[in-house]
Amino acid sequence: MSASGHPEYRLRRAVVEDVPAIMELERTTFVTDAWSERSMRSEVTGEHGYYLVAFEPSAPERIDGYAGLLAPRGGGEGDIQTIAVAPHARRRGVGRTLMLALLAEARDRGAREVFLEVRADNPGAQALYRELGFEEIGVRPKYYEPDGVDAVVMRLGDPATAIPTPETTA
Ligand SMILES: CC(C)(COP(=O)(O)OP(=O)(O)OC[C@H]1O[C@@H](n2cnc3c(N)ncnc32)[C@H](O)[C@@H]1OP(=O)(O)O)[C@@H](O)C(=O)NCCC(=O)NCCS
Repeated sequence: MSASGHPEYRLRRAVVEDVPAIMELERTTFVTDAWSERSMRSEVTGEHGYYLVAFEPSAPERIDGYAGLLAPRGGGEGDIQTIAVAPHARRRGVGRTLMLALLAEARDRGAREVFLEVRADNPGAQALYRELGFEEIGVRPKYYEPDGVDAVVMRLGDPATAIPTPETTA
């Protein structure tokens, strides 16, 4: 596993032309609380954002995953804004690879801590974040509407600690 891409997948920076394909995955993944296309466009193109898409080299036009970071350079902290992997591509390390790439970018932008929110009823995503070193620091009651589901707030103290050294990625 390398931080630059799963063996079967590649990552690249998302561009505005990717937004329709990202939105397709967004709407099927987050059925009740998907972002609007307008919000996604402003996230993907925002000055302080960093969005990646994952694709198979044999089908580069198909986006099988995306993830985004918000981290103003020199601001000292970052937020994982979103992550989704298409059902057929899950449990193959794509989510972890996307997260590691976002954390590397957060580190490069000077973030000393990274935050995220995750639905309390999403143990799979929580397991991924815990594996990377995120710890639960609080709960925002009924944060996700219209479902009324709590958000678990998680924090990673130093993004560099989650990123494997070259020896461990061989
Ligand atoms: C959460 C999500 C992004 C994970 O993507 P993924 O590519 O399947 O994750 P990975 O294959 O990189 O998983 C890495 C590790 O995370 C943990 N993990 C991931 N999904 C898990 C699940 N459903 N149940 C338990 N552990 C899980 C495991 O430890 C896994 O390692 P393993 O497969 O060797 O056991 C994906 O399931 C998804 O898109 N879910 C729907 C959208 C979503 O919930 N997004 C998060 C919003 S906060």
